[in-house]
Amino acid sequence: MSTNRLWVSFLIIVLVEGWLSECCWDEERDALLHLKAQFDLPSDWVDGSDCCLWRNVECNNTTRRVSKLTLSESFENRYLLLSDFHVFKALESLDLSRNDIAGFIQNKGNERLSWPSSLEVLFLDYNSLRSDIVSSFSDLKCLKQLNLGRNKFEGSLNISGECDK
Ligand SMILES: *[C@@H]1O[C@H](CO)[C@@H](O)[C@H](O)[C@H]1NC(C)=O
Ligand SMILES: *[C@@H]1O[C@H](CO)[C@@H](O)[C@H](O)[C@H]1NC(C)=O
Ligand SMILES: *[C@@H]1O[C@H](CO)[C@@H](O)[C@H](O)[C@H]1NC(C)=O
Repeated sequence: MSTNRLWVSFLIIVLVEGWLSECCWDEERDALLHLKAQFDLPSDWVDGSDCCLWRNVECNNTTRRVSKLTLSESFENRYLLLSDFHVFKALESLDLSRNDIAGFIQNKGNERLSWPSSLEVLFLDYNSLRSDIVSSFSDLKCLKQLNLGRNKFEGSLNISGECDK
């Protein structure tokens, strides 16, 4: 084979591989990188790579959307902006345990807190949350598992309604 033909086959292989390799959604990768600035996260969280392959991130294999995020023991502030999570349209599982989070804020100060409505599993144990967090869970109609242990309040929850997924 001449060098030219070798080059052509090489180029075709590179092109086909690039075309076949599915990547995560740009807006979700950007949101993850934005979170990285506030959390102590693995070094494989770098721009330009497939965020579905990053540690602590899992995606739906079909849609390539982020379905699970593990962000425990890594938060570097006290208050977390909840609106940062709304870009994840198919987020089913979120682990924010052991972060000493004092509370959540929404984008605009007086807006009520809202979680991504697709959540089925939410771990918030071992933080410093107070009872004002409780009303924010009422939108989580698809929730199957919620862990609130080891925070700064006691009480009961009543979430009812239809999960429309
Ligand atoms: C992936 O997403 C598709 C489309 O939303 C859904 O039907 C499927 O159940 C999801 N897979 C998993 C493993 O959650
Ligand atoms: C997605 O595919 C990978 C590799 O085939 C597999 O290990 C993983 O369990 C799958 N995830 C889901 C949610 O089905
Ligand atoms: C929860 O709320 C629903 C609707 O508001 C109500 O019908 C139900 O009795 C409540 N359950 C408990 C255990 O308080």
